[in-house]
Amino acid sequence: MPVTNDTVVRTIEWTPEGVVLLDQRKLPRREEYHLCRTYQEVAEAIRGMIIRGAPAIGVAAAMGIALGVRQSPAASLDTLKAEFRGICDTLAATRPTGVNLFWAIGRMRLLFDDLMERRADLSAIRARLVEEAQKIKEEDIAANRALGDYGVALVPAGKTVMTICNAGALATAGYGTALGVIRSAIREGKNVDVLALETRPFLQGARLTAWELQRDRIPTTLITDNMAGHFLHSGRIGCVVVGADRIAANGDVANKIGTYTVAVLAKENGVPFYVAAPLSTVDLNIPSGDSIPIEERPAAEVTEIQGVPIAPAGIAVSNPAFDVTPNSYVSAIITERGVARPPYTESLRQLKQR
Ligand code: MRU
Repeated sequence: MPVTNDTVVRTIEWTPEGVVLLDQRKLPRREEYHLCRTYQEVAEAIRGMIIRGAPAIGVAAAMGIALGVRQSPAASLDTLKAEFRGICDTLAATRPTGVNLFWAIGRMRLLFDDLMERRADLSAIRARLVEEAQKIKEEDIAANRALGDYGVALVPAGKTVMTICNAGALATAGYGTALGVIRSAIREGKNVDVLALETRPFLQGARLTAWELQRDRIPTTLITDNMAGHFLHSGRIGCVVVGADRIAANGDVANKIGTYTVAVLAKENGVPFYVAAPLSTVDLNIPSGDSIPIEERPAAEVTEIQGVPIAPAGIAVSNPAFDVTPNSYVSAIITERGVARPPYTESLRQLKQR
């Protein structure tokens, strides 16, 4: 019987010593925690994939800002103001694609500006920023639980759900988006199992999704990415559910590299393709996926597996970390305020404004 002990996965926590992160580079071999004592260390942890997944990165950035302001020796509000800008810029420069990072920084900045305008004292500013970061974390968990519940009706019972990358508790503050839908479906008594794509090159599927679901005793089978078409054609897959790093106003979806391939194969085989994401991932300022910046990651992620070279030295490499799935392949977008259906320009705007 599956257990939903998802809350036991402590992805990120604020402590008096600093921000504690579950080191996702080391999973599944070791469950180690990494302490960031400064905002610069939080920025490094995001860039180096100690913490990853768009919503989790947003929470980390908010906590990084709270940490930066706490560590600042600023004697006056004016010096703090200048330092605050530097802290936000450092965190914003870590990863360009996931919009939750910029959304969380924007929210912290709004609060900071408001406190500055009201000439709040330094200790009150520090305390409020910590409080806000914690709130962002709690709200993310609540959003995931809500969207998970909205997603249940879309998951066919007695079938397999295919997913790519890790859009689980590890990629969020807890519960997960795509994996949240699966958790909710199982909690509601739906008999489903999961087909997890390994997700080359960083192996978030093999290392993280497999670890997280196995821990929850959710029946999971791991396959390599190039097996996706074979299984989508087999009749076994009831639906595909993936997360998102940024959703444009028209419903184009940036997610882990390989998602687009799965979406095309799903459509070809008549399998519904669902995207599960909180509204903090929806970027109404970006009209279509063409304007979403795609992160290029180090070549070593492609030429090596866990530090072992698998390609000749000097070979040219391309390593885009994300791709964009055009909205025509997306059957629905599951959010914490309900399920958006095409045309997305209309449905996403309505959900965001509610
Ligand atoms: O490079 P990563 O591991 O940060 O990429 C993560 C993804 O692409 C996830 O699918 C996405 O952030 C959604 S997580 C709820």
